[in-house]
Amino acid sequence: MKILAIETSCDETAISIIEAKGGVKNPEFKILAETIISQINIHKEYGGVFPALAKREHSRNLLPVLKKTLTGAGFELKVKSSKLKVNIKREQISKILEKESEMIEPLINFLEKYEIPKIDAVAVTQGPGLEPALWTGLNFAKVLSLVWDKPFVPVNHMEGHLFAFFASQKKQNFQFSIFNFQKNFFPALGLLVSGGHTELVLMKDIGKYKIVGQTRDDAVGEAYDKVARMLGLSYPGGPEISKLSEQYKPKKMASKYKLPRPMLNTPDYDFSFSGLKTAVLYTVKNIPKLTPKIKQEISYEFEQAVVDVLLHKTKKAIEKYKIKTLILGGGVVANKKIRKTFQDMGSEKLNILIPDIEYTGDNATMIAVAGYFRFLDKKYLQPEKALKIKANGNLNF
Ligand code: KG4
Ligand code: ZN
Repeated sequence: MKILAIETSCDETAISIIEAKGGVKNPEFKILAETIISQINIHKEYGGVFPALAKREHSRNLLPVLKKTLTGAGFELKVKSSKLKVNIKREQISKILEKESEMIEPLINFLEKYEIPKIDAVAVTQGPGLEPALWTGLNFAKVLSLVWDKPFVPVNHMEGHLFAFFASQKKQNFQFSIFNFQKNFFPALGLLVSGGHTELVLMKDIGKYKIVGQTRDDAVGEAYDKVARMLGLSYPGGPEISKLSEQYKPKKMASKYKLPRPMLNTPDYDFSFSGLKTAVLYTVKNIPKLTPKIKQEISYEFEQAVVDVLLHKTKKAIEKYKIKTLILGGGVVANKKIRKTFQDMGSEKLNILIPDIEYTGDNATMIAVAGYFRFLDKKYLQPEKALKIKANGNLNF
């Protein structure tokens, strides 16, 4: 089946169309087209994502991104003959897009003009994320589902990150699959680390999740971004810190700027990064001049502290739950040290699945993959029923 997926939970406007087959036993995916527009440059001057701006940009970008993805997937945008003209529900569309009113006319024009593409479902991120941003994608998806008369699949963004690894074999054959998906795969553990989340998710099967550990305060990405600001680096801070950290050549003796490893030895699988961030703040306050070398050293020590805690708690959860597969996901997984550290844990007994860097951040292909599994599990709605679906900034597993 062909799934069109939409992702607008934060600062990327993304649409993907994938072809999925094989069911839960032997899922196989092919990316037909994917388009992503990042708003990072717009938010940079605010030092973080500004929700109202994100919403405005999504409203502007969604239709051009849709057209590009449809043509990229080989759907010719065929102009309809008048007989084929579907009954466009003008009033209903205006009501759905009440808060995104600038999208109404261009979208209706588009829908009136072109034939319905041969897709089988519309999937969209329902949450978690920034609510104004989520609503934009959600309402856009409702209109497509309604006018094209396609099932509507609401998707949890974090479940998407959990499945981003599926896209990793894409480069070899433009197709990705996991063989013997069931055998020796479960129980799996997801370590999800992004700007808003830090979670250890126990996965007994597809669709069966339990959060066994999470941050009690800041998410890892958030800590990276805040520490970057303290060091005078630009947003998003993760890539900046890791660049500096890579430049640092550790000496034999311990770092002058020793930072804590919060909650390292607590008996649970939870994390805390706010104390680590505050420790950086005090360290920085006591340094009269932050030279490039000092910034490198602090970045290195900060990154090492993050890695130590993530690794320790993840290992503990792997032992406790007799995990066979560890899956990494989320924007922070772009980090080289984190990738290498966890890759090195792999053994005959433990599969390690890490998405390619381009799929660590937010994208719609991961939403399409999660959407496929939800569809198989019958967690979809008919278009009219989907109208009552609400965006949920705090959506849980
Ligand atoms: O998953 P994501 O794109 O968006 C959310 O859903 O939050 O994650 C974004 C986060 C930001 O905090 C960013 O600083 C962090 O991922 N990040 C990194 C790196 N690249 C992005 N953190 C550490 N090292 C990186 N190389
Ligand atoms: Zn994300």
